[in-house]
Amino acid sequence: MEKLVIEGGNRLTGEVSVSGSKNASLPIMAATILAEGGYTLENVPDLRDVRTLCKLLNLLNIETDLRNNQLVLRNSGGDAFEAPYELVKTMRASILVLGPLLAKRKRARVSLPGGCAIGERPVDQHIKALKLMGAKIEIEHGYIVAECEKLIGTDIYFDLVTVTGTENIMMAAAGAKGVTTIYNAAIEPEVVDLGNFLMKMGVKIEGLGTKTVKIYGSDNLIATDYKVMNDRIEAATLICAAAITKGDILLKGVPIDCLTTVIDKFLEIGINIEVLGENVIRVSADKRLDAADITTQVYPGFPTDLQAQFMALMTVAKGVSVITENIFENRFMHVAELKRMGADIRLKDRSAIVRGVERLSGAHVMASDLRASASLVLAGLIADGETHVHRIYHLDRGYEKFDEKLNKLGAKIKRVENGE
Ligand code: UD1
Repeated sequence: MEKLVIEGGNRLTGEVSVSGSKNASLPIMAATILAEGGYTLENVPDLRDVRTLCKLLNLLNIETDLRNNQLVLRNSGGDAFEAPYELVKTMRASILVLGPLLAKRKRARVSLPGGCAIGERPVDQHIKALKLMGAKIEIEHGYIVAECEKLIGTDIYFDLVTVTGTENIMMAAAGAKGVTTIYNAAIEPEVVDLGNFLMKMGVKIEGLGTKTVKIYGSDNLIATDYKVMNDRIEAATLICAAAITKGDILLKGVPIDCLTTVIDKFLEIGINIEVLGENVIRVSADKRLDAADITTQVYPGFPTDLQAQFMALMTVAKGVSVITENIFENRFMHVAELKRMGADIRLKDRSAIVRGVERLSGAHVMASDLRASASLVLAGLIADGETHVHRIYHLDRGYEKFDEKLNKLGAKIKRVENGE
């Protein structure tokens, strides 16, 4: 297994570009199940999760070729319908094949994703909605076993806002008979990106990006090409990296419109952000950041996928910050690790109370999930001495060449095999 060894104390300067969005790429890739033919997707990040979904699509008779951020897919049809445990256990987003498989191939057998480091994460809303659309679904031997004659469009009311749930049902509805209306739909930009792709495939969608989305099913979907949006979470993580080192960087390819809430919060704590042109910003920080509170919420609120990175900033900020996690029940695994580096954090219910300290000190720390690993890297950038971040396969699931990008900006990070 690999680890990162970070020598702290190097200020970041220079230019860096944001990669394509992981969370937009995955559902768009899954949507290629809906129509046979060839697809070229541009701006797909070369990440472990993307490679995992490629493997899964290969099992479903869809060839994939990912080179230089261009993903070429060829769906040759057939009736394969299984997403095995070995793949799903490494990536929960594999559940995204359930809706399109049912819509197109009328059958699906998808391993039930288990809990994960950030909580139980059930998929009951996905299953409820597909049942309402006429699917027969049983849980057998740890698998969701589903079949239908033809999915039928209907009204779906989600009990809570679910991102992949909304995406799964949008894809199911695209290949269903009649109209599906999703109430309490997720409005995250990645949901909108999937919707735009489906529309390019020939699906009529109304209300995309609002809480009520209407999808008109079609039997005439066509394979198409598409450019995936840039990654808003990576962009914000790079802003954190510049700010925590009191650096000064030029960040290109920032989906600024999707980051309004986050940028407001960054300005509040004293990060300088200057918009220089379309999707180009200059980020700098010249003094110790101020503390501020955040509460994670569904879009356009502060994203849960940025909570751990924001906490890293707060560990060395001036004052006390209260960080409340509203989306996942157990997303504070990074707290114990940050404390090993000298952070002063107390957990109370769903909040972390972070008292900013003058400095962190390098230590051996363990990444527990994707965003937690990014927060440990951020802390390592300014800690005294060396920080060893273990289990960075989590980081590689979702950040493209993160250590390389930071090194180009002046960080000192080595990737080493530690034989674990
Ligand atoms: C997606 C993102 C993830 C992000 C999350 C919240 C992808 C591939 N992943 O995950 O990075 O952190 O949105 O923005 O896009 N829930 C249920 N029942 C369900 C579905 C969800 O109870 O059927 C709960 C979850 O346990 C969680 C909340 O709803 O507490 C939100 O989860 P959801 O939006 O579904 O997250 P994901 O789509 O898995």
